[in-house]
Amino acid sequence: METALTVAKRRPMGFAGTVVDRGLEGIIVGVTALSNVEGSAGRLTYRGFDIHDLAENASFEEACYLLLFGGQPSKHELCDLNVRLAANRKLPPAILAWMETMPKGAWPMDVLRTAISGLAMFAPNLEDGAHPSNPRSAIGLIAKTPTIVAAWDRIRRGLRPIEPLPHLSTAANFLYMRTGKMPIAEAERALETYLVLLADHSYSASTFAARVTASTRADIFASVTSAVATLEGDLHGGAPGKVMKMILEVGKPERAEAHVRQALARGERIMGMGHREYKVRDPRAQHLDAMAKALGEASDAKWYTIARALEDAAIRVLAESKPDKKIAANVEFYTAPVLFSLGIPADEFTCMFACSRMAGWTAHILEQLADNRLIRPQATYGGPPPVAWVPLERRRAGPLPASEN
Ligand code: COA
Repeated sequence: METALTVAKRRPMGFAGTVVDRGLEGIIVGVTALSNVEGSAGRLTYRGFDIHDLAENASFEEACYLLLFGGQPSKHELCDLNVRLAANRKLPPAILAWMETMPKGAWPMDVLRTAISGLAMFAPNLEDGAHPSNPRSAIGLIAKTPTIVAAWDRIRRGLRPIEPLPHLSTAANFLYMRTGKMPIAEAERALETYLVLLADHSYSASTFAARVTASTRADIFASVTSAVATLEGDLHGGAPGKVMKMILEVGKPERAEAHVRQALARGERIMGMGHREYKVRDPRAQHLDAMAKALGEASDAKWYTIARALEDAAIRVLAESKPDKKIAANVEFYTAPVLFSLGIPADEFTCMFACSRMAGWTAHILEQLADNRLIRPQATYGGPPPVAWVPLERRRAGPLPASEN
């Protein structure tokens, strides 16, 4: 039940009596033609196409075309996009050489964020030092992101990176570049569907960050670097690695409920559960659920069974403690067993999210720039009232602040 206190916590009154919302919940800050999230109905569309239709029928490249260019590609247009992606997949040798010098224990998202930012130095410069923000740059970024993730995956294992093959799809290429083996059709299709499902989600936090950066007229490389950085936290793209950790820790479906109860008693959140927009199960979860089940059955792995038991337990237990919140599984929950079954380590899951969302981010940046206005909100001042500056010699001596480190 929402009380005056919970409302005040969520929407504290500012000094001047202004109502502020710390999380911008329910605040409309822009218009987009890219994707539409209808939270209470559990519906998601890209350019009007239902996510269920896309998951079953679209390739990732078709989803990229749809987001970047506004409609379904013809055969010729799709072929042209595939050729352009293939021509852009290889990384500048200097980026690969830099990766070779990084500590092998470096976290994959740190490497990805830095490498994405570094790509700007190999892009053509405009007179003012910025780089062109156009579909060509967008395609280059979409093409190179999976290559960075696969290259770091190998480099940190002490292996030589494998070059992409021009005739393979984005999904097949990624799996091939990790292992050097051609993926089986089921694995390629599973990763492809994952990439389609995650490609856009309206003004998600990382997309908003990209649009804020672009609105200052920073270029596409700067803007996607903001997006990758914002994706990292576990309230956004950082959740699935922690879902996998939970699945591995639980180990057996029978332990699921006790695990959920103990985690909540410690004040922790159950990763992969809950969503700011969806008030029902995330529509993307059903496809990932089905894929996790199929991949689990094919490999005899138990991750799916444990995940299923955890979802059921979390829904049950959270309904007891938060009856009004309607907390259900989000896209990250079944992402974990799907990607793990494809052999991808848990600490690379957020990077996989970035491989997909790069399509949405770049399309949003171009949409922002096509009708730009600086995004610059206000805050209500909540600090001390005006006070006179005291010269150093007249300040009273006090105890030294305790060092935090
Ligand atoms: N586990 C436990 N409690 C949860 C929860 C979860 N997964 N998700 C929400 N809640 C609880 C919060 O603790 C909060 O309780 P309180 O009112 O007593 O403080 C209440 O529900 C509302 O949470 P709030 O963070 O305001 O809701 P939100 O709509 O902004 O939350 C998320 C959205 C995604 C941040 C949140 O559901 C969450 O933290 N999920 C886990 C992380 C995750 O899966 N991230 C990936 C998102 S796609």
